[in-house]
Amino acid sequence: SAQLNQLAKAAGKLYFGSATDNGELSDTAYVNILKDSNMFGQITPGNGQKWQYTEPSQGSFSYTSGDQIVDFAKANDQIVRCHTLVWYSQLPSWGADGSWSTSQLTSIINTHIANEVGHYKGQCYSWDVVNEALNEDGTYRDSVFYKVLGDSYIPIAFKAADAADPDAKLYYNDYNIEGAGAKQQAAAKIVKLVKDAGARIDGVGMQAHLIVGSVPSQSDLESAMESYLSAGVIELAYTELDIRFNSLPASDSGLQQQAGDYETVTKACLAVDACVGITIWDYTDKYSWIPSVFNGAGAALLWDENFSEKPAYSTVSSVL
Ligand code: XIL
Repeated sequence: SAQLNQLAKAAGKLYFGSATDNGELSDTAYVNILKDSNMFGQITPGNGQKWQYTEPSQGSFSYTSGDQIVDFAKANDQIVRCHTLVWYSQLPSWGADGSWSTSQLTSIINTHIANEVGHYKGQCYSWDVVNEALNEDGTYRDSVFYKVLGDSYIPIAFKAADAADPDAKLYYNDYNIEGAGAKQQAAAKIVKLVKDAGARIDGVGMQAHLIVGSVPSQSDLESAMESYLSAGVIELAYTELDIRFNSLPASDSGLQQQAGDYETVTKACLAVDACVGITIWDYTDKYSWIPSVFNGAGAALLWDENFSEKPAYSTVSSVL
């Protein structure tokens, strides 16, 4: 039977993809599924391109981890969503220091982006240029970037990324912006902010770290996407989809509910032409980030810990 990326492409999308991480690539059973470009046409490095790994000390760059994933994707005919350049989290300790002047931090951002995007030039379908700039109420997160530069750090980052790789699609990426609300409205304002500053922004990435039984309705998902298109981007993607159980183990009816929730998100992407693809935040519960961050939660992905396809897999494949 046809596989997820094949089905997504036949439905007019660019890809169906998965995140992965360096440690997992020594697991043969894992790699056998990941490397199949009929299943996954797109890969996102889950960690290796983050600032703490790529510029661990100021001015000294390292691409070993990121390159391993990008090379893996290339070897298997998969495109890469590159992730991520400016984020408050997983910063090296030197960068998280808040005592920069505006010109120092501007130069730090420009140097980081010129170097990293330059290193990967031509290899990234897209870049998540700015990640998670917003609080839940739609105000800006109090990151080192915002403290020193205010919201101007956002267009600064997009201009630097555009200069370093004019062909990569440039995205703003965040979570809890999939449905209606203050954070979704604020994300649309970020699109306008970047465009008003004369910078290029191509897409909004909706992470979609969702909870079984609490997924926004398909019409709310579509309205949020329309709000980003109205604000001026040309494409959209679900970039880190997982739908977790808050308590485990999952029951049979829970797994059916999860399948229905995955169906809702998949149908929303299918219904909006500008939604180019769906990326799940790794494909098997064995390597999901959820249990390490959300206490007691898990079982969020399409394959279980033993690489068996869950009900949600069948549903996504039949909806695509
Ligand atoms: C997560 C990784 O999956 C974990 O391995 C890491 O410990 C923390 O970051 N939003 C993002 C991703 O944009 O980069 C995060 O990835 C998950 C939430």
